[in-house]
Amino acid sequence: MRVSTALIDQFNEPLEEKIKSFLLNEHYLTTPEDLKSRRFLTRSVVPHVEALSQLFNRLDPDQPDSVDQKRYYADTKNRKNRMLSYFLSFMPGNAFRAAAVLDELKRLGFVWTTPSSPTFRAVEFGAGVASAAFGCAEFDRIFSFFPDGPKSFALIEADKPTLHFGEKWFNSVHNGSWSTRTFPHRIEVSQRWLPKTAPTFHFMISSFFLNESVAEPSSWAEGLFETLEHHLENEGLFVLVEPALRTQSRKVLELRAELLKKFLDHPEFKILTPCLGHQTCGALKSDSDWCHEEVRWWRPPYLRLLDELTSLDRKSLPMTSLVIARSRRSRTEILPALHGSDTARYRLVSPSHSVGPRDVEFFLCGQEGKRRAQWRAERKTVSTGLVDGADLQRGDILQNAELSGDFAQTKVESFD
Ligand SMILES: C[S@@+](CC[C@H](N)C(=O)[O-])C[C@H]1O[C@@H](n2cnc3c(N)ncnc32)[C@H](O)[C@@H]1O
Repeated sequence: MRVSTALIDQFNEPLEEKIKSFLLNEHYLTTPEDLKSRRFLTRSVVPHVEALSQLFNRLDPDQPDSVDQKRYYADTKNRKNRMLSYFLSFMPGNAFRAAAVLDELKRLGFVWTTPSSPTFRAVEFGAGVASAAFGCAEFDRIFSFFPDGPKSFALIEADKPTLHFGEKWFNSVHNGSWSTRTFPHRIEVSQRWLPKTAPTFHFMISSFFLNESVAEPSSWAEGLFETLEHHLENEGLFVLVEPALRTQSRKVLELRAELLKKFLDHPEFKILTPCLGHQTCGALKSDSDWCHEEVRWWRPPYLRLLDELTSLDRKSLPMTSLVIARSRRSRTEILPALHGSDTARYRLVSPSHSVGPRDVEFFLCGQEGKRRAQWRAERKTVSTGLVDGADLQRGDILQNAELSGDFAQTKVESFD
């Protein structure tokens, strides 16, 4: 998925400066040089990042279905460094992923029509250190995405110290433009995610949270649907960001399938992206397949060093996402950069590979599912500015596409 240069720029050195000043203020760092210090990172951060990666990437041979939280916050003698390590290692990427999802919505022409008076209300579920809330607020600071006027972010999180850390971090940058409210609370994901007395929200986000539950996607769908039905404002959005690992990603695809069944009786709900329709998921057809996106960025400089020290590679950020709108408007009314017929619109769901001097091959997903396709690359910038034909990437959208050949071997003749 493509990302605006201005967003990439802000998540590089400027983000590092914000992180550094916050951590110095909160006495997590003793000198501004700590973030550049191999010695400091190796002693205080690297062991925790390795333990957390082991857990999040399900590196155990049996790939457990869920994350045992006791193992990542409490199961350590140095909770302070564990928190610091989660924050330094995982917050920036998760914040960027959330912002990248908003970036695509903006590029596709999404604008808020919901009256936000008196206050625009947002919530992050399983907020941890408020990564996704921070990413969205940063996106808003750069691009004025959310409506003008008072805005509030509710942060819901089971672990109280993490929640307070997250609130402080969020406020250290966005205190002037957003108010925050914190709710230390364990969500039962198969039931409504908010208490009955909770208000409605214009914007909801859940990032790297749902996969921590062992429940089946059908019970996630029960809880999420109830939450949307009772607490998502008309013309509001729900954004889900989850890992790109096969098992977790497939669970999101199954969640989508379950939600679509419920949406049949509730046409006010629709999945906006990444799927550009309510078609049966092409990736779910084969047990070994899954669907994910990837965003590229320039990591904050300290994160490049940390990646080197931990042998992690966060040059690009994979994710599985889902954006749901509550709106009676059609998808093309909500995302006006989408045009032409729904049946002639496809998204690249793989990278494109050269298969000849000028030909590239990739997988497309459209109304009839997923298919392999080839394109004779020509250099052209399309009218929507969405793709450059010579440089097709995972996530690009082809509109008014003319295809030839059969489903097993398709040729893209033209698109715009
Ligand atoms: C991997 S972290 C993600 C945090 C943050 N959203 C992000 O994107 O970086 C998952 C967080 O969800 C919290 N969490 C997991 N299950 C929860 C539940 N049932 N209710 C509330 N919080 C939960 C964990 O304590 C943890 O802080």
